[in-house]
Amino acid sequence: MGVDFMIKSPFMQKKSLHGKDDMEIIDQAENLRKMTRGRQSKSSATVLEREEKTADTVYTTEERNFSMPFTESKTRIISITSGKGGVGKTTASVNLAISLANAGKKVLLFDGDLGLANVNVLLGIIPEHNIYEVIKGKKKVKDIVITTSYGIDIIAGANGISQLANLTDEQREQFIKGLSELKGYDVMIIDTGAGVGANVIGLVLPADDVLVVTTPEPTAITDAYGMIKSIVANRQEKSIRLIVNRVPSAIEAKRVADRLISISSQFLRTSVQNLGFIFEEALVQKSISNQRPHVVLYPGSKSAACLTHIAARLINTPVQEDTTGIVGFFQKLLNVGSKEEEKEFI
Ligand SMILES: Nc1ncnc2c1ncn2[C@@H]1O[C@H](COP(=O)(O)OP(=O)(O)OP(=O)(O)O)[C@@H](O)[C@H]1O
Ligand SMILES: [Mg+2]
Repeated sequence: MGVDFMIKSPFMQKKSLHGKDDMEIIDQAENLRKMTRGRQSKSSATVLEREEKTADTVYTTEERNFSMPFTESKTRIISITSGKGGVGKTTASVNLAISLANAGKKVLLFDGDLGLANVNVLLGIIPEHNIYEVIKGKKKVKDIVITTSYGIDIIAGANGISQLANLTDEQREQFIKGLSELKGYDVMIIDTGAGVGANVIGLVLPADDVLVVTTPEPTAITDAYGMIKSIVANRQEKSIRLIVNRVPSAIEAKRVADRLISISSQFLRTSVQNLGFIFEEALVQKSISNQRPHVVLYPGSKSAACLTHIAARLINTPVQEDTTGIVGFFQKLLNVGSKEEEKEFI
């Protein structure tokens, strides 16, 4: 089954906003309001209250009741990806990483966009070293980790990753050994490029969680479905969660998420979860121009509150028992698996 049915209208099958299911689910806007109470300016608080009244519900009671924390021992690996480019992956990765750090997690943000690595650009950092130097044996892994003033560590510009394919067994072993120096992180967020190309899928499949970012644009939704389809084709059991970015309202976010969840269930037999949404806000662009994350520059903004909420939900969602960890992630990445996509990667 192709995705052309999406093009007719992604919102053709709108559900009742006030059905029985809706009674059982809570409203992200309400959570946002609670979380930001006291920090909001009067006008943004009013907007959130309005959202609270009008927004459709987002989370099921079952989802809300999850309370398993991140595992203590191994780093949880979260890949952030999308079908269409430019939907806000890097912005979401950077701001989510900081929101998780604000919630007490130790976070490593890994720039996995092989083409246009720009995590460091959003943070206003000029990296001195990158992973290529590690692969070439010129630097140790821990030498390329940049500690930022935002409470997170980053590994910038992963351009060298494609070189991993050319390593000798000995170099590969050295590289993996070096990674074991990256200790103590609760979570590693990987900002990937867009699209279902092998190098993006390669960074997605070994992750513990995959967050697929979309916007309400029909093309972004269709491409998000394409990405979900590619993931499921390789790993039926993969945990996939959605972030709907640049939404004008919570209702719009829910419509987009519901549509993707419904077609994924119907045509791919997979259960995609709705992680949350981020409001479209001019402040986000302004903060990008300033090369400072919006959760830092505008902590009282609606979009920052959304990120805080998404971070809280992630913390409260279950972690796979066989969490990969950083070394495990790269081992999986480098091992030539049985699936074609993995073989083609790097
Ligand atoms: N919530 C938002 N509100 C307003 N503008 C946004 C929001 N999120 C992202 N943008 C805009 O979208 C642009 C693209 O964002 P970003 O670079 O994060 O996308 P991306 O998915 O990482 O792109 P690429 O596929 O090229 O890596 C930003 O420069 C910003 O202008
Ligand atoms: Mg990007």
